[in-house]
Amino acid sequence: MLGNFSYCNPTKLYFGDNSLKYLGDELKKYGQNVVLIYGGGSIKKNGIYDEVIGILNEAGKTVSEISGVMPNPTLEKLYEGIEIARKANADLILAVGGGSVCDYAKAVAVSVNCDEDPWEKYFVKFDEPECKIVPVGCVLTMVGTGSEMNAGSVITNRKASLKIGHVFASEEVMPRFSVLNPKYTLTLPHYQMVAGIYDIFNHICEQYFSGEDDNTSDYLAEALMKSLLVSSRIANKNPNDYEARSNIMWTATWALNTLIAKGKSTDWEVHMLGQAVGAITDATHGMTLAAVSLPYYRHIMPYGLKKFRRFAVNVFGVNELGKTDEEIANEGLKALEDWMNEIGLVMNITELGATENDIEKIADATLVMEGGYKVLNRDDIVEILRESL
Ligand code: NZQ
Ligand code: ZN
Repeated sequence: MLGNFSYCNPTKLYFGDNSLKYLGDELKKYGQNVVLIYGGGSIKKNGIYDEVIGILNEAGKTVSEISGVMPNPTLEKLYEGIEIARKANADLILAVGGGSVCDYAKAVAVSVNCDEDPWEKYFVKFDEPECKIVPVGCVLTMVGTGSEMNAGSVITNRKASLKIGHVFASEEVMPRFSVLNPKYTLTLPHYQMVAGIYDIFNHICEQYFSGEDDNTSDYLAEALMKSLLVSSRIANKNPNDYEARSNIMWTATWALNTLIAKGKSTDWEVHMLGQAVGAITDATHGMTLAAVSLPYYRHIMPYGLKKFRRFAVNVFGVNELGKTDEEIANEGLKALEDWMNEIGLVMNITELGATENDIEKIADATLVMEGGYKVLNRDDIVEILRESL
């Protein structure tokens, strides 16, 4: 544990199949005006909207709505939401949905009282908010991003073909509370469920595959990955298995709520490649990560061989006897590939709509991170993307 850090996570969680009943208590802590944000309509079909509206009405709140927040929320949609929240004089922003809705709610929250352009300020210059941040609460309906307990917000600028995430330093951007009811995730289509599962797995990898020190965070990461492998296999066969779905939901939160990044430099290059693919194709986030991961990990494995060997043995139970470090590490990546195929992930960017002609454009949109085992150059990026086709 060689890093220097502070740790604080202010988000209060309510977990379980009766967790929404605590929303009423939370609402008492905030003013009259609530801006309710949701996506394209799944919450109207599965009844969550009616439940939430009932609790808001019972609390006597004045409710304004921002609906139609799309997966990979856009800058145009953000501008629209900021105006609605300003007019409503929002005291609380309540996000009901997946990562896109939660991320979007945070982007609105830091922009309502800010005169500058949010794209320039938060997603180009990566400035921190200087204005009053409107409190955000979440009712989570899709599992994967960890947005329910972190300060991340990812916005897509379609005109610029860029999808950029800002992990705010300010704890005030984190949701004040999040309601995690695993039952709400049971209506997710299989495609979204497994995309979310891979998003979780990759968040853990992004933090695990960095550093050489003996670090408690890595042991926590291995435990989370092992739990996810077990519960994902059960949920893949029987999506209605509540125990598996609840384990997946809890793992997602801990995979990206800053805990296992402590003391780590962290990588995040798979996310940079995936986000660039997403900016061009508008594909589902978890699938963009799945499509580029193996070419990336095979590319950087020689630079972090010890860790890839450890991953193979500790996470996938690869037998070490009589094998070289490289053989063991390769077997670990093969086991990862087998699991990815087993649960039905998209394994190449072609299936997501990208072609050879898009490679240079995707490479242009790929940010280069410096915390992993190899800092990529342009040729590396192009090679990895070609291998991902
Ligand atoms: O829009 P509706 O109709 O609600 O449908 C959504 C959407 O189409 C549907 N859905 C959600 N809950 C459902 C449901 N359908 C049936 N039943 C339910 N209970 O699922 C679709 C995907 O939802 P979305 O919110 O887009 O998924 P996800 O949670 O994966 O969020 C993706 C966004 O989060 C960003 C991604 O880049 C992407 O923009 N990320 C945010 C991070 C963070 N805050 O830290 C980190 C991640 O790495 C990620 O980058
Ligand atoms: Zn992710």
